[in-house]
Amino acid sequence: MGQVGANKQHGLYEEAKKYMPGGVSAGGRYHGIFGQPLYLDRASGSRLYDVDGNEYIDYYACAGAALFGYEHPRLRAAIDKAVEKGFFMNFDTEYHIELAKLFRKIFPSAEKMRLCNTGTEATLGAIRLARSYTGKDIVIKFEGHFHGMHEMIWYNHNTTAKIDQYGEVESVPDSLGFPDVSKEVVKNVVFNDIDALEHAVKKYKDNLAAIILEPISFNCGCYATRKEYLEQVRELCDREGIVLIFDEVITGLRMSPGSAQLYYGVTPDLTTAAKAIGGGFPISVILGKEEIMNCLNPLGKTVMSGTYSGALMPVLATIECLNMAMEPGFYNHIEEVGNALYGGMNKLFEKHGVPGHVRGIGARFAIYFGVENPEDDFDFRKVAEKMDRNLYKRFIAECLPNGLFFHDTAGPKSPAHYGITSQHTVDDVAITLEKMDKIFSKLGNTKVSL
Ligand SMILES: Cc1ncc(COP(=O)(O)O)c(C=O)c1O
Repeated sequence: MGQVGANKQHGLYEEAKKYMPGGVSAGGRYHGIFGQPLYLDRASGSRLYDVDGNEYIDYYACAGAALFGYEHPRLRAAIDKAVEKGFFMNFDTEYHIELAKLFRKIFPSAEKMRLCNTGTEATLGAIRLARSYTGKDIVIKFEGHFHGMHEMIWYNHNTTAKIDQYGEVESVPDSLGFPDVSKEVVKNVVFNDIDALEHAVKKYKDNLAAIILEPISFNCGCYATRKEYLEQVRELCDREGIVLIFDEVITGLRMSPGSAQLYYGVTPDLTTAAKAIGGGFPISVILGKEEIMNCLNPLGKTVMSGTYSGALMPVLATIECLNMAMEPGFYNHIEEVGNALYGGMNKLFEKHGVPGHVRGIGARFAIYFGVENPEDDFDFRKVAEKMDRNLYKRFIAECLPNGLFFHDTAGPKSPAHYGITSQHTVDDVAITLEKMDKIFSKLGNTKVSL
């Protein structure tokens, strides 16, 4: 494994900057610590290979989309089948019905399904649906949670804004360009605090359509949910006639086929899922109770459609992903590899006296540099206060030239989310921990320069 930053990478970046703002095709491709995007040549199994011939064990897994790793033979077969059939879009097939049946079998909330292309599109549709079903406008979300980049929800993902005595947080958009009026219908509350939520519900209930949440917020670390809290949220929504939306775009398939809703034993009214369900293909889904889903067109007047929605290739890939996730042993392997990694890294924190810890659930994890008490993971504000971003940067700066790929997705307030794929092995973890042992031993005096 060679050095990151060899010539071809830099040359491509210089060229890219002439044609794309910031030299990237999507803002998130930029790697803050590397100082440019990483240009890949190819990927296979658990490995990435960059244009300079460097090999990395991948711990980003395409922001969670690559749960099944790269170049998976069964996904290749699904692609081949779509190619043979003409790889069309904008038509339904018998496979769409097969897919809907699989979702119903797997996700407790999935009485009916509607397909779309991205997580952002799915949450946009679910919120629209909740509004039309209830005839109300306001959506409550939680500080630190992320549900896609649209004006209807992208607030307070990576800020700790002004908070009142009841736990309601001033809505602050995460991008410029949002109309001021949209924040009138997005309210933010601290998570894992039922009193704060009860208070907000009481305040807004005359016009409250939905509560949306990430059942485990991997978008600000691995922000775990207290099970009891989730049950209380469910009861509250039932009592007040509020649509409960679980955004399982990351948690979907992450720790069990039934996802976080089965893991916690709490069933939402609507679910959004994307990323892992399609094994990296652009597909997302809104799943939910028949009574609500039937508000969608052509039955109802809530319109949700699109040229690429349910294109054949991602549909066939998703059928394969759901089938693989249901096979015996699939999650045993993920647990075994994940636990070896998370446990091994926690031992390294201890061994080298580096402040922090790792929390992993299923195939995804967060590294909490600077946060010594794992109980703090349940509190976004405590983590935001304690997180040592400098230590995190130094860690990643050492991982890259050592052939361990961690993208830099941490916001100013919270740790990043990372992950393994089903093609990672315990041998990958052993190699990783050996390298990390040396990396952790240096953390005290590593400089961030590549
Ligand atoms: C929980 C959650 N919801 C929605 C989204 C948006 O998904 P996409 O990037 O496919 O639009 C993401 C993306 O990271 C996510 O993590």
